[in-house]
Amino acid sequence: MNKIEIRKLRFHYSAGEEILSDISLDFDARSTAIIGQNGAGKTTFVKLLKGLLQPVSGDVLIDGINTRDMTVAGLARHVGLVFQNPNDQIFKNKVLDEVMFGPSNIGQSPDEARASALAALQMVGLADKQAENPYDLSLSERKLISIASIVAMHTDIIIFDEPTIAQDHAGKERIKAIIRELAKQGKLVLTIIHDMDFVAETFERTLVFAEGKVLLDGPTREVYGLPGILKQSHLEPPHITQLYNRIGCQGAVLTVEEFIAARRAGTGRPPVSA
Ligand SMILES: Nc1ncnc2c1ncn2[C@@H]1O[C@H](COP(=O)(O)OP(=O)(O)OP(=O)(O)O)[C@@H](O)[C@H]1O
Ligand SMILES: [Mg+2]
Repeated sequence: MNKIEIRKLRFHYSAGEEILSDISLDFDARSTAIIGQNGAGKTTFVKLLKGLLQPVSGDVLIDGINTRDMTVAGLARHVGLVFQNPNDQIFKNKVLDEVMFGPSNIGQSPDEARASALAALQMVGLADKQAENPYDLSLSERKLISIASIVAMHTDIIIFDEPTIAQDHAGKERIKAIIRELAKQGKLVLTIIHDMDFVAETFERTLVFAEGKVLLDGPTREVYGLPGILKQSHLEPPHITQLYNRIGCQGAVLTVEEFIAARRAGTGRPPVSA
């Protein structure tokens, strides 16, 4: 089982300045995106799921166990978090050592940790960089190393905080494939992300955070079908949806393929004026 239940969660860094207010929701096997403007509280929220912060009130249950009753080390076996900034995560001076650190730390034997790390580096396309110093690599490669470090831990829950930062098209496609593969393996995958095109193509469910609350939560198609509410939280629908709507068609197509199929079928076409 891999499940997260959140009950009446509240959090602030300083009294009187509430960052998260009264959030209750569940996460299940559906791959889920968390979107929302800068400062909405997304990173704070996932740090609470990982036990790096404790709720001011309310509860977070991981597979039925309250994070208040678990240590950060105990939670590390269940929840992996890829940090927003890879420089906050990477501290070894050899790529392989960096990726082996997490699995070794949660009890994998040296041989297991090495095998896990090599498989994860293969998955992110950096197997040939295992002997290098992460700080001799680019920011986009360091982001991929930080992803490999978490994948190698084989946790049932994996959270990505802005995985596509600094990635070019090929990097984004690789990350999309990694997220799909992890979801296919039955892992619970949560992803904080600003790239609305990427969300449309990758996630079943989308949550919109605004001012410490969940403004919208539903199938990605339904969420993207509410441009007014997205605008309220300073978000724009994916480019392909905007194009579809700009040529006068109603509804939310999420991908180029859907756009072409809808136009061919004539659905969403605006009424022909006389
Ligand atoms: N360690 C901290 N101490 C005090 N305030 C903080 C701390 N970390 C974040 N904040 C504040 O909490 C609020 C939410 O920040 P958070 O980083 O969770 O937002 P976010 O949605 O992840 O934003 P972004 O999209 O920019 O990453 C912001 O106002 C931020 O300034
Ligand atoms: Mg953040």
